[in-house]
Amino acid sequence: MLAMNKFRILGAAVVAVAATVLSSSCNDKRSTGWEYAPNMYEHIAYDPDQKNPNFADGKTAQVPPAGTIPVGFVKFDYPNNKDGYELAGTEVKTMLPQTQNNYAEGKVLYMHFCSPCHGETGQGDGTVVAHGFPPPPSYSKGQSSRGGAMKDLTDGKIYHTITYGVNAMGSYASQLSPEERWKVIMYVHHLQTL
Ligand code: HEC
Repeated sequence: MLAMNKFRILGAAVVAVAATVLSSSCNDKRSTGWEYAPNMYEHIAYDPDQKNPNFADGKTAQVPPAGTIPVGFVKFDYPNNKDGYELAGTEVKTMLPQTQNNYAEGKVLYMHFCSPCHGETGQGDGTVVAHGFPPPPSYSKGQSSRGGAMKDLTDGKIYHTITYGVNAMGSYASQLSPEERWKVIMYVHHLQTL
């Protein structure tokens, strides 16, 4: 008799639990069921794409204030035109220590990125030119297409050229960091004296 009762109680309990699970899972459509460490899902911090009452525009991901730049970003506020080139030519000077090490690194970078067109000694006779590419003017003896002798090109003019390119020469801004550009320029200054 007692054994029978035990089974009945157990059966009733199972039915009750099953009913609760069924009814509760149907009521709350957003329920994800049992969660381990729910703080990980229902966290207090706002997601970047979530509405946010703390800001006037109601967004969590705020646009940086106008004029701000990322940490480590080097500004070069000269436009890609003749005026920007001339202005950079008089205002922009290298801040790089003129050490033997920087010169040596500049030479390596020049050999990789510039010599295919400009040639190893900067005479505008690189391997690409031998295959029909229009030859750049010699750094020491040529004339710039923007006026003046190539040997007189200043820090800022060369930096402007590497950053934006000029005519058939493309920009090297994505290949060379500002510091690397200044190293290359050290070496170009040497080639201007050859
Ligand atoms: C794809 C070939 C090519 C490569 C690579 C190249 N250049 Fe040039 N470069 C040219 C050509 C062509 C000109 C002449 C453009 C003109 O004035 O019409 C030129 C012109 C220049 C000038 C003269 C700009 C002026 O004011 O007249 C400088 C300085 C210069 N290059 C530096 C570099 C440096 C530094 C590198 C390597 C980071 C480099 N170039 C890589 C083709 C190249």
